[in-house]
Amino acid sequence: MTDKLIIFDTTLRDGEQSPGASMTKDEKLRIARQLERLKVDVIEAGFAASSNGDFEAVKAIADVIQDATVCSLARANDRDIGRAAEALKGAARARIHTFIATSELHMEKKLRMTREQVLEQARLSVRFARNLCGDIEFSPEDGYRSDVDFLCRVLEAVIAEGATTINVPDTVGYAVPELYGNFIRTLRERVPNSDKAIWSVHCHNDLGMAVANSLAGVTIGGARQVECTINGLGERAGNTSLEEIVMAVKTRRDYFGLELGVDASQIVPASRMVSQTTGFVVQPNKAVVGANAFAHASGIHQDGVLKARDTYEIMRAEDVGWSANKIVLGKLSGRNAFKQRLQELGIALDSEAEVNAAFARFKDLADRKAEIFDEDILALVADESVTK
Ligand code: KIV
Ligand code: ZN
Repeated sequence: MTDKLIIFDTTLRDGEQSPGASMTKDEKLRIARQLERLKVDVIEAGFAASSNGDFEAVKAIADVIQDATVCSLARANDRDIGRAAEALKGAARARIHTFIATSELHMEKKLRMTREQVLEQARLSVRFARNLCGDIEFSPEDGYRSDVDFLCRVLEAVIAEGATTINVPDTVGYAVPELYGNFIRTLRERVPNSDKAIWSVHCHNDLGMAVANSLAGVTIGGARQVECTINGLGERAGNTSLEEIVMAVKTRRDYFGLELGVDASQIVPASRMVSQTTGFVVQPNKAVVGANAFAHASGIHQDGVLKARDTYEIMRAEDVGWSANKIVLGKLSGRNAFKQRLQELGIALDSEAEVNAAFARFKDLADRKAEIFDEDILALVADESVTK
């Protein structure tokens, strides 16, 4: 049996909770189809009970998606769970994801409930959901800041009621990798029926550690589902970024030793679609999907990459959906990169002396201009070139 890592995409639910990122039903449907092309395992399509619009979006996605499991979030109460089940009726594979907060802070100040009340509500909600759907995920909200003894009691109870996935959120992005990994491991060791459920990690990026925390939850904790979003979209500083998780696990397969169902060549199209739909620009130096993620500007790097790409590339741009890596010509570029661009532009200079002269003019120009475009090179060599 292969050891598979389940990719649970929550761009359309937790991602959409990002201020200013709300999407229409049609936009969500378009992104869901792209997530299906990306071959994620689970699409969290929304929070059906939160509005009629979200109910309709979850329903529309459930009705068309065939390959991925379609999931709706629901608070731990019968009304929310009923709405989720209703919206998911048409799904080829459906999941209800129910949650209730378990940290002292959230129980006392937000829910105004005692531990025993929360435990009972979690238990009854999972029982109710399990009668409506065979695939139930339970999340103890603010789980990472919860008392471990109490959390173990809650998780044991919900697994006994039929929860099939246990997701442990670091709701406020407070965790650090080793501690979060150990926390998941402790829960798995101490909850007596833990092997009856798949364990999942759900991390927020408030301290910039969501990806590292999720991976520690996998390697140290033994989690086999990661919850994540395209471009790391999500509340505040965002969620775990899907593209970083996927490419870390694929690129360092030697270390993680895990299988993924994802088709990585659909990552960049998905990133662009989410960015264009929400208006959230991807920072140029963002791993995997940033415009500079595969761009080489320094002469030494350009020369190395032109000789052998793996000198400075640990992944192939094409493998994640870029058309190719990018050699950016500027003042740090070397003669080899310049010659290569001449060739790509179909420019044949008669002699090495002419190449040298053109290269000198290129360097002069590059001192005055940050990036040299193809038109600049064409102008530079206009007099002495023979265009093939
Ligand atoms: O961050 C969180 O706690 C959540 C849960 C609802 C899973 O998004
Ligand atoms: Zn979240």
